[in-house]
Amino acid sequence: MENHQLVLVLDFGGQYNQLIARRVREHNVYCEVKPYKTSIEEIKALNPIGIIFTGGPNSVYEEKSPKCDPALFELGVPVLGICYGCQLMAHTLGGEVTAAQEDTAREYGKTETFYNTDCKLFKGLPGQGISWMSHGDYMAKVPEGFELVAHTDMCPTAAIADEKRGFYGVQYHPEVNHTENGSLMLKNFLYEVCHAKGDWTMGDYKNSSIKAIREKVGDGKVLLALSGGVDSSVAAALLAEAVGNQLTCVFVDHGLMRKNEGDEVEAAFSKWDINLIRMNEEDAFLGALKGLTDPEDKRKAIGAQFIRTFEKMGKQIGEQVGKIDYLAQGTIYPDVIESGKDDAAVIKSHHNVGGLPDFVDFKEIIEPLRMLFKDEVRQLGFELGLSEQLVMRQPFPGPGLGIRITGEITKEKCDILREADAIFREEIANAGLDKEINQYFAVLTNTRTVGVMGDSRTYDYALALRGVTTSDFMTADWARIPYEVLDKASSRIVNEVVGVNRIVYDITSKPPATIEWE
Ligand code: XMP
Repeated sequence: MENHQLVLVLDFGGQYNQLIARRVREHNVYCEVKPYKTSIEEIKALNPIGIIFTGGPNSVYEEKSPKCDPALFELGVPVLGICYGCQLMAHTLGGEVTAAQEDTAREYGKTETFYNTDCKLFKGLPGQGISWMSHGDYMAKVPEGFELVAHTDMCPTAAIADEKRGFYGVQYHPEVNHTENGSLMLKNFLYEVCHAKGDWTMGDYKNSSIKAIREKVGDGKVLLALSGGVDSSVAAALLAEAVGNQLTCVFVDHGLMRKNEGDEVEAAFSKWDINLIRMNEEDAFLGALKGLTDPEDKRKAIGAQFIRTFEKMGKQIGEQVGKIDYLAQGTIYPDVIESGKDDAAVIKSHHNVGGLPDFVDFKEIIEPLRMLFKDEVRQLGFELGLSEQLVMRQPFPGPGLGIRITGEITKEKCDILREADAIFREEIANAGLDKEINQYFAVLTNTRTVGVMGDSRTYDYALALRGVTTSDFMTADWARIPYEVLDKASSRIVNEVVGVNRIVYDITSKPPATIEWE
């Protein structure tokens, strides 16, 4: 990123380190997270316009706690310390940090905070607001040259600043949403203190990633399992752009996809000269599901069939492509598990490619999205020219419609559900609700009910509609879809889909229900 200004985030093991980086990127400044042990020579070579110290679980006065090279403060580069980072700065520059007593300054959670708006960090912002605190230590004495620029009822040292030298420290976490105007405080640090030009965009990220992938892959071959979901699609597009026909994407169409999904995925990648292997495995999956009614048995059968399909795929890849050098994955930052051991510099990722690596030999895994959050991945997808339909796609489970058909799964039922589900999704989109409702779909129940169509009696399936709002999919509320929208979807489905004569709307939250029906 030699052409861009860089802000360096030094990671002291905090939980929010990547969130800080993401906030910086949101303000159009390029940012990298490096371990706190990064040498002073390397830091100098990076030539940052500012350095941010993250929080961390330790106490600075403990002997083994992570420290920084004091020479860092001699570089003439502004520094912002957050939480542990703030205490570390105070400690290193001659202040005093102690354990807080119960009745002094141990703070956790949302805390009313008062800011001195003469300080550059708070310039143009309200003098009072909620900040998110999470600290058990207290700066009993701040270093020479520093002023107190924010306080709470409990803590006089909520923020400190030495504006001459460009050193700032905040006890709270400006990067989390709970801190009112926190992102703007970071913006002030970038623009008022570090004089950022704001010269970085997602387009730059795309270009630098492509360059890095090309350098790494050389003339090697890359394999990626494409599920049709947002993450694997964006990763595939990035790799396609970077290495073209050295990329092989494998896509399993298990016949449990939504309407037109398989063709849409194939079409989305047709503009690149990649090798796309589409495994049409509908017969195999439906065969494996034949006669099964218990949800767990069905899931197991789908899982087992995936393994058989991967075996077949491994053979096919061997014959068509030959030896694979790299396995690419669409792992994104929330999937990355911090090891928590020693310090957060050691980050491990979980590899959830569903068995693929067992059948294909490769040297190394590439995860080009591992620094990005979901909405950044989507932005990158747009940069790469993927359609809104693909990039804004709601989550879709691996077993697909297999967990949305109660009772035995047949091709006929899959087709009925596909049609009904497509109508429901279309009506949600027509009503402009597709961004508000986090997941919405139809479920085909195994119950037949009596109805009347024209003058005749019908005995067809009851179909359920499900819509939920959620931020993490761990808990969810049922979406309050306006009656008119439900009405439109209901009448269209019973009129247009043969085999369905009754529609119900699922009004249970999670818990006690789950989002999916099986
Ligand atoms: P539940 O039904 O457990 O779903 O409330 C939570 C989220 O996970 C998705 N889900 C799955 N995704 N394989 C997947 O890849 C599965 O077996 C599976 N089961 C549920 C579900 O769609 C929702 O987003």
